[in-house]
This record gives sequence, C-alpha cells and structure tokens, in this order.
Amino acid sequence: GAAELGPYRHYMQKEIFEQPRAIGDTLEGVLGVAPELFDGAPHDGQSGASAHRVFQEIDKVLILACGTSYYSGCAAKYWLESIAKVPTQVEIASEYRYRESVPDPKTLVVTITQSGETADTLAALRHAQSLGMEHTLTICNVATSAMVRECKLAYVTRAGVEIGVASTKAFTTQLAGLFLLTLALAQAKGRLSEAEEDEYLHQMRHLPVALQSVLALEPQIISWAEDFARKENALFLGRGLHYPIAMEGALKLKEVTYIHAEAYAAGELKHGPLALVTSDMPVVTVAPNDALLEKLKSNLQEVRARGGVLYVLADADTHIDSSEGLHVIRMPEHYGQLSPLLHVVPLQLLAYHTACARGTDVDKPRNLAKSVTVE
Ligand code: G6P
Repeated sequence: GAAELGPYRHYMQKEIFEQPRAIGDTLEGVLGVAPELFDGAPHDGQSGASAHRVFQEIDKVLILACGTSYYSGCAAKYWLESIAKVPTQVEIASEYRYRESVPDPKTLVVTITQSGETADTLAALRHAQSLGMEHTLTICNVATSAMVRECKLAYVTRAGVEIGVASTKAFTTQLAGLFLLTLALAQAKGRLSEAEEDEYLHQMRHLPVALQSVLALEPQIISWAEDFARKENALFLGRGLHYPIAMEGALKLKEVTYIHAEAYAAGELKHGPLALVTSDMPVVTVAPNDALLEKLKSNLQEVRARGGVLYVLADADTHIDSSEGLHVIRMPEHYGQLSPLLHVVPLQLLAYHTACARGTDVDKPRNLAKSVTVE
C-alpha cells in the first residue's frame, strides 16, 4: 500500500533507491573472502556441502539464468575469467535445457535467480544434474526457494522483497554475490593475494556510499527521460564488462516503457546497427574510464558522423564533454571492476522516468510476470 511506498511514486523507484541498503545488507557479516560464504545450508537431513573442496575441484563455471539474472551472469563471466582465471560459459536456461551440450563433471553449475522459482532455470539445473554435474551453486534472493533447496551451495542475497516486475535491486545484489564468488574461487585456487583481497573488499564496502552519489544524478536523468519519452527506438552501447550493462539497460527500457531498445557491443556497431542511426534514434553509451575508452570514443564518433544523438554515462576523468548532439552525465567516481554496479543505476532511473513520462503501468508492465513458474 501507499504507506510502504513512503516518498516514492512506485515500487520500482523505491527499489532503485533501496540499493545502497540492499548491497550493505548483502555484504553484512562478510569479514573476509572465504569459500565458506557459499557453504550450503543443511537440509533434508544432510549437512551442507563444503564450498572449499568444491572450488578446488572444479575447473570451469557454467552459469544458467533468465532475464535480468542472465545479464548479471554475463557480467560475472568477465570477472571470473579475468580475476579467478576460471573459464566461464553463460547460458539462457531455456536454451540450455533443450540443447545437446558436452557435460563435464568438473564444472561448477551456477544458477542465478531472484525468486528461486523460475521454471526454466530450475529445469536447466536438473538437466545439468542429470548429465552428471553435481557441483551446483545458486545466487538467489529467497532463502526458502526451490532453487536454494536443490543446489548444494548457495549465496542468499539480501535485496529484500522485490515487487516491481522490472528487477533492479535484485540485479545489483546478484552482482555483489557474483563478485564475492569470483574472489572466493580465486582464493581457493591461490590466485588472490592478501593485498588484492583487502583492496577489493574495501571497494565493496564503499559501494553503498558510491551508490548514493549515483542516485543523486536523478534530476539529470529526468531531463534525458523527457527526450526519450517521445522516441520509439533506442540503442544501447557498451564494451567489455559494460556490454552486459548495456543489455540490462535496454531490457529495463523495453520492459517498462515499451520503447524498442537493443544493446550492442560497441565494436559491432559498424557490422549492422549503424544503418539504423538517425537523429530520431537516441544512442545510450556506457563509458567507464577503462582500457577500452579510446576505442569507445571512436565508436561515438561513428554515431555522431551519421547525425545520431548520444547520451553518454561517462566517468569523471574520461574527458568526454557535452556538445551539439552529445549529452553527457558524469559518474561521480571511477570504480574499476565493480563499475557495472554503479553504471546500471542511471539506466534503471532512465527507464523508470521515461515510463512515468509515458504513463505506463511501471510496476506491472503489460504481458509480464514477476516470476515465471510455468514454461
Ligand atoms: C521474469 C521477471 C524478470 C526476471 C526473470 C528471471 O521475467 O519479469 O524481472 O529477471 O523472470 O527471474 P528470476 O527470479 O529467475 O531471477
């Protein structure tokens, strides 16, 4: 009811603004990186499994998920391969369950699910188990869910109940859980020094504060949303770790505004989507100050040269400045590997405020369900 909404107009907005708290709660009690954080809860009369032993045994990761949870898995692949050096595959659960794949018992099967009840993700898990893959772990927001019961290992995020159909705080808390998983795997395999562990944990603990300053960008996002409300198409670009964030941004916009949105890895622009660029097609770009920045800047040039209008989320030190056809919002700080957790927030707000301007049913978009428990 209205009382629970407090100062917010919709649950989606409330949940976006709850993210500093949700991340803080998800990391509460995490004093150091340890595989034990993922030990399964004892159930069905069995004691929980030992993540430490499992993490040493496995030599690859297979991530299975749907929707927004699939995109958090796509981001985690970059972390798992660059930090833990564990080969990682990410699959849409509804595809994996119905295709012939090559099973390997030394795989850690990781399901990601807010609800823990998504039919396709549960079926994909059972399919992997039926192929002889016993090492299963879930990143899940509901401790009492079927998924937590059926996986040997688990990390339960503490986003709290999410009501808006478009997932927001569940996504960022999944990313926090997946980053911890990356560090724990790296540690179990002797690939994480104590200094690195300290530095990463320090950055994680600072996330609630960093998120607050990103949320303070809301007035600037509202002015972008006024432009977007009149469009019927939008393109989202990102590179590397932020390509999944571009995908999640496009999904958010589709879900709540019904604007057709597509995400591309910026390097793919010239292989097709550039043909769509006109002054009527806003191009949202996630531009952290990372190793790919210079390449991304030339992608932006390609768009501008064709009359495309750019909306860029740039880190403070990227030297990308607003000009004709180029709208820049500066992110307060550069956040390295954890930058996706911050860059996704303005995209959530953009979808939310564009939906408000268009007058859609933000918390219950047409044709969508919060949790899809049937195939
Ligand atoms: C539905 C929801 C999405 C969610 C997806 C997966 O489609 O509308 O917001 O991302 O299911 O849900 P899960 O609970 O498995 O994360």
